[in-house]
Amino acid sequence: MRNLTLELNSLETTEYVARKMAEHLFQGSIMLFWGDMGSGKTTFIKSLCSGLGVLPDKVTSPTYTLVNIYKCNWYIFHVDLFRLTAPEQLYDMDRADLIADQGVTMVEWPQMLQNYLTDEPVLNLRFKNVSDHHRRLILETESSEFDILFNTMEQQNLSCG
Ligand SMILES: Nc1ncnc2c1ncn2[C@@H]1O[C@H](COP(=O)(O)OP(=O)(O)OP(=O)(O)O)[C@@H](O)[C@H]1O
Ligand SMILES: [Mg+2]
Repeated sequence: MRNLTLELNSLETTEYVARKMAEHLFQGSIMLFWGDMGSGKTTFIKSLCSGLGVLPDKVTSPTYTLVNIYKCNWYIFHVDLFRLTAPEQLYDMDRADLIADQGVTMVEWPQMLQNYLTDEPVLNLRFKNVSDHHRRLILETESSEFDILFNTMEQQNLSCG
């Protein structure tokens, strides 16, 4: 397990970190976004998508549709499972409806997705509210496929030490 804590002490820092991270995503990346309401998941995803070539205005939380699909060089699946209360509520969704094997998948409120994941590379992003403009982001993965991303983020000097 590899992990790293980043201090996002302004919206500008959040945008910078997300755009930097986007440079090191790859086809098949699955990112799971954990954290309370308002902790910054969608805000971070907007900047990630922007880094991947999607206009930020196109990126909205798909709370009612469950999945938004954006097209850039790759497909980006933006999933939000906030409304789900049980995994069975996904019964009519195939894996291919939720996970972009040829692109990047970003999932807010991913608790109910576990059945759809096996051993593919997953990056967990855990957001915590520190104060009005300060979020703490903990990155976690068990996959060495994110090594370059981790190495780059470590060099940004945003760790809490
Ligand atoms: N450093 C920061 N990084 C990210 N967002 C910040 C920061 N400081 C303040 N904010 C604000 O926090 C709010 C985060 O809202 P956002 O919709 O991204 O949260 P969320 O985690 O997706 O919530 P939900 O679970 O309801 O979907 C935004 O209004 C954003 O402007
Ligand atoms: Mg959101």
